[in-house]
Amino acid sequence: MAQTLVWALAPTWLMDRCAERLGEAFTLTFAPSGLRLVMFSDPEAVKTVFTAPPDVAPSAAGMSPIAPVVGEHSVLVLTGAEHMRQRKLLLPPFHGERMREYEDVIVEATRRDMAGWTLGSAMRLQRHTRLITLEVILRAVFGVEAERMEPLKAAITELLEPVHMLTVLRALMSRPSAERPTGAIGRALDRLDALIYAEIERRRGQSDVEQRADILSLLLLARDEDGEAMTDGELRDELVTLLLAGHETTATSVAWAVERLVRHPQKLARLVAEIDAARDGSGDAARDGSGDAARDGSGDEYMTAVVNETLRVRPVVPLVVRMLTQELQVGRYRLPAGTRVVPSIYLTNRNARVYEHPREFRPERFLQEGPETFSWIPFGGGIRRCIGASFALLEMKVILRTMLSELQPRIPDGRRWRRGELVRRRAITLVPGAGASVVWERRRPGRSAG
Ligand code: HEM
Repeated sequence: MAQTLVWALAPTWLMDRCAERLGEAFTLTFAPSGLRLVMFSDPEAVKTVFTAPPDVAPSAAGMSPIAPVVGEHSVLVLTGAEHMRQRKLLLPPFHGERMREYEDVIVEATRRDMAGWTLGSAMRLQRHTRLITLEVILRAVFGVEAERMEPLKAAITELLEPVHMLTVLRALMSRPSAERPTGAIGRALDRLDALIYAEIERRRGQSDVEQRADILSLLLLARDEDGEAMTDGELRDELVTLLLAGHETTATSVAWAVERLVRHPQKLARLVAEIDAARDGSGDAARDGSGDAARDGSGDEYMTAVVNETLRVRPVVPLVVRMLTQELQVGRYRLPAGTRVVPSIYLTNRNARVYEHPREFRPERFLQEGPETFSWIPFGGGIRRCIGASFALLEMKVILRTMLSELQPRIPDGRRWRRGELVRRRAITLVPGAGASVVWERRRPGRSAG
């Protein structure tokens, strides 16, 4: 029972303690449900799980509390051939060139929110990054129509209201249920559904769908291998999945990036110098004291390293769960069918055999070589790797660049949180304990921050 309580309140503390005492593989058991999670943080074991045939180690997300919210057709919860079908239909809007089209939208949404900031006093940055990323995902999914979508925003925000710790505990203590939530969450979900179905219907009636670049239009036109289009039910489930999976995670990651940067002024200064240099078209300012310059000249190497390091040291999603349908050998362990196998994102990303000083924020570790597939897993892995990973990386960079081009953050006065904000659980994500509290000041013209 104690383990269940600690898991609900302080999951990273529990994972750290277990890893210290038991190493790279251990089992957590929750009372009174008897639910067991077998956790791994060794990249070889993680690889075995992520590359296991999907019918041997399918996702267990269908049994999680998010399943009834995103719906039975959601790519997040489907398994097997149905999962692959939905995944293939969803991938095109998230591919390479399309990403660039979202850049202006991200800059605009960030600037609009920044215009309302009070400079010089402490603010919880995460509240703002959440508004920015919600705006961005609505725009990406619905296009210009997103401007009249205040009711949709309100329904989503309500759905993501902080989940009370008791709810988390109750979910851990009982056997998973696929029932649609009731109460306030159920009502918010009903409102969200009604708005989304209305939007799908309206779009089906529009004559310009083929000229449009938003995700809803692309999904309406998408056909699977048999030439079949998505049904309204499938569209609803995928849109809700994208709206929910696609903003809070990125918002929290941007908040963590700033939370880490303000506590590492030299790294912040180096990042700002790189941003300024890219804007001024000169590479000089991107060089640090050791003469380590931007390597391939694209001008955002340090930004990329900062974003990768933030996602490593403060991953927002701490783990993913697979449910074995057959026996599977993972490292030294022969695990029976029915085992919930869990690559721990949090522990793998800070495995001391892979990373020197794993708890420290050191973007420089990713300057010479980028992250590795199975030891840097903030987006999961294998055939279920996050569809929005490139979108999220672009969004993080553009939001950070837009904010830091104009403003300079610092830690609020006072002794609390000076060394860093606690890692706190919010439903299934890990968020900064004080919401990434920062004070913003206008940058003085002609000078870099730091
Ligand atoms: C920093 C931001 C993000 C993080 C840390 C993150 C993390 C993850 C993780 C760990 C998974 C794997 C779940 C599993 O294996 O069971 C996942 C899946 C997924 N993510 Fe993300 N995500 C982020 C942003 C986004 C964005 C921006 C979108 C869409 C716009 C998105 C859409 C999805 C979808 C649709 C899946 C399901 C993929 C599948 O099952 O095939 N995510 N994400």
